[in-house]
Amino acid sequence: MQGRPIPFISQQEIADTVRRLAADIDRDYGDRPLVVVGVLKGSFVFLADLIRQLQTPIDCLELIKLSSYGAGTESSGVVQMQMDVSEEAIAGNHVLLVEDIVDTGRSTSKALEVLQCHNPKSLALCSLLYKPNRRQVSVKIDYCGIVIPDRFIVGYGIDFNEHFRQLPNICTLEQ
Ligand code: IMP
Ligand code: MG
Repeated sequence: MQGRPIPFISQQEIADTVRRLAADIDRDYGDRPLVVVGVLKGSFVFLADLIRQLQTPIDCLELIKLSSYGAGTESSGVVQMQMDVSEEAIAGNHVLLVEDIVDTGRSTSKALEVLQCHNPKSLALCSLLYKPNRRQVSVKIDYCGIVIPDRFIVGYGIDFNEHFRQLPNICTLEQ
């Protein structure tokens, strides 16, 4: 399957959302430095935009890699950690996990669980997108960008079989 991308969320709406999320994070953390942990690959464009809007100092930027989706649009249900983060980066620090989408919640809850094991001072989650209808595992999204219906989306770093990450806006895929 290789559908046609149909515009769904504009660059303007994404930019407004990123600014709002950054303002909320700044309001909560102020001068307290953050360790920001991005989840590869899908969050890399959002992460790059978000950190450039933040006034809160960032002490450390870490990247982790999870995989749940195989080749297709349905999650396999099995979440694998492909790239972890060192305990010393996390322990005793205020940590913000940055996700592209919370879909079933499985990969995000796995990432939160792994980070929690490394004893952060605090741990919060920021996700650009949230699909509540798909949720299977409960995760608290402290900073939630845009709530979307159960549609497969691509663009702004988010892929279908590695395609479409370069789209500047967020699109649905027409089969
Ligand atoms: P979850 O574990 O089901 O919450 O899914 C997590 C990951 O699946 C997200 O971080 C994305 O990388 C991927 N994913 C979920 N929904 C979509 C989608 O609509 N398009 C592309 N990737 C998605
Ligand atoms: Mg992801």
